[in-house]
Amino acid sequence: MLSISNLSKTYLPDKKEALKGVTLDIEKGEFTALLGQNGAGKTTLINILAGNVLKTEGMVKIGGYSIGSHALETKRIIGIVPQDTGYDFVFSVYEALKKQSGYFGIRHNGEYIDELLESLYLTDKKFSNIRGLSGGMKKRFLIAKALVHRPKILVLDEPTAGVDIEMRHTLYDFLIRLHQSGTTIILTTHYIEEAEKLCDRVVIIDSGRIIADEPKTQLIENFSRKVTVEFQFDFELDSADMAFLNAYNPQIEEKTKLRLRVLKKNLPEVFQLISRRNMEFVDLAIEKPTLEDIYLSIIHR
Ligand SMILES: Nc1ncnc2c1ncn2[C@@H]1O[C@H](COP(=O)(O)OP(=O)(O)OP(=O)(O)O)[C@@H](O)[C@H]1O
Ligand SMILES: [Mg+2]
Repeated sequence: MLSISNLSKTYLPDKKEALKGVTLDIEKGEFTALLGQNGAGKTTLINILAGNVLKTEGMVKIGGYSIGSHALETKRIIGIVPQDTGYDFVFSVYEALKKQSGYFGIRHNGEYIDELLESLYLTDKKFSNIRGLSGGMKKRFLIAKALVHRPKILVLDEPTAGVDIEMRHTLYDFLIRLHQSGTTIILTTHYIEEAEKLCDRVVIIDSGRIIADEPKTQLIENFSRKVTVEFQFDFELDSADMAFLNAYNPQIEEKTKLRLRVLKKNLPEVFQLISRRNMEFVDLAIEKPTLEDIYLSIIHR
């Protein structure tokens, strides 16, 4: 569906290498999170897909068409929601969406536009000037604009930045439905729990290079071999007495809680050690790392 190989981008005149040999294949139906710190190269990659930035080296194919030689074909297949909402159109929402449809030679799609506005909670803004929309409304307008030609792939560059929490959840539902109806989706976000909720594949980009690319479940599984176990006792603990657990990095919290870092396969041994000391615990919690924990540890590796 989308094939990127050895893609590089150097911005002149400072020779800033924003992308350094990125290779990425996206299959039909995937929902991929593209994660990375500020300046990692996410928007550069998306702008190349959108045809707004020229690549320096490498190959990009969308639906089998090369972006350089088949700009119009690739634009029909992909819809891009840009990060930048700084559009100062003089048009109303409806006029802008009709104009965008016209760009693809689509007419008589008023009903579909109404549907889009309805699902994105913009119906009452249909005839408002875009300039007068709030930041969160502009984001939603840009999603509608990216979808007017019913693209097979939707790429969203931080669609929920600056969107209030309730509307963010509404957008999640919208994107889940869109994905279920067959659209391939790539999403960048700084809200990692958003990627955890929505995506099935996680790609992490760092200083222009892909440093992780895995199915989400596998990534979490790989990092979950070690868990945090928290025992709650009904008596105060003394750190000097915890030396027998030194292999598990014992931490005492609030005097009566003991936290250990344990490989899952060593859990039985830990329980044995504790029961041999006749330390009866009154409560127990086992925590797996979240995608956010995993993301941070990959970024700082
Ligand atoms: N038009 C440009 N001219 C020169 N350098 C640029 C340009 N656009 C981006 N860069 C540089 O390229 C690098 C990657 O920027 P990019 O916008 O792709 O990052 P990003 O991952 O989208 O970050 P953010 O999370 O902040 O949106 C940065 O060092 C940035 O300063
Ligand atoms: Mg960006």
